[in-house]
Amino acid sequence: MKSPNLSQDKIKIPKHLAVIMDGNGRWAKKRFLPRKFGHRAGAENLRQFIRWCADFSIKYVTVYAFSTENWQRPDDEVQSLMKLIVEFFGKYNRELEEEGVRLQFLGKIEDLPEKSLATVKRAEEESKNRNRITLNIALSYGSRQEIIRATKAFTADVISGNREIEELNQEVFSSYLYTQGLPDPDLLIRTGGEQRISNFLLWQLSYCEFYFSDILWPDFKKNDLKEALMEFSDRERRFGGV
Ligand code: FPP
Repeated sequence: MKSPNLSQDKIKIPKHLAVIMDGNGRWAKKRFLPRKFGHRAGAENLRQFIRWCADFSIKYVTVYAFSTENWQRPDDEVQSLMKLIVEFFGKYNRELEEEGVRLQFLGKIEDLPEKSLATVKRAEEESKNRNRITLNIALSYGSRQEIIRATKAFTADVISGNREIEELNQEVFSSYLYTQGLPDPDLLIRTGGEQRISNFLLWQLSYCEFYFSDILWPDFKKNDLKEALMEFSDRERRFGGV
């Protein structure tokens, strides 16, 4: 397949792209494989996806890798996802470095098993001076939990005298979220055919454009990303104005 040619197509590039990588399980099922093979294929696709995003000069990408609800999946699936994370950052750290990928993890990562937690902390620390593209990985993430956590943290600051209640506005509240310091996403892509938000970035997606694709995540390739970007370029965003 011919790769997208940016010089010929006037594409508006989102500054921050959010992605719900859905469909790994179905991808595996179609091949009569256990679900964990779907996640493995999904992780490989993420590895390439981040390169395509960098090629398109997208500065921030936030992907939903594991939700707070995903802890309820069967034990062996949770364990294989955790193992995959450890392997992924061990195996691809050099490559991510070459690509200039900064990594940040959003979510209740303190709930991860010890080895996975140590891996993600190290990956984050080692990547902090890279600046071509930032990959935020939502891990043990749930948006309602994030909002409650932010509310508690702000309240604690009021009680301890570090903040006044009157100071609270959208900007201040945003600074208590895991996404603190990041611009809000301009475009959300959800693969896998479902059209819902699944407790992902509820606050941050307020003005975001949504793009739904029927393609299962491991099959979502550079040309599919380009199509999403072209549709995004055609949409007019007014932020509630006229
Ligand atoms: C949803 O598909 C996907 C997930 C719950 C996990 C997404 C994880 C990855 C793509 C791997 C991430 C890896 C790293 C290293 C960060 P599903 O399993 O719900 O699919 P289904 O809807 O077809 O069952």
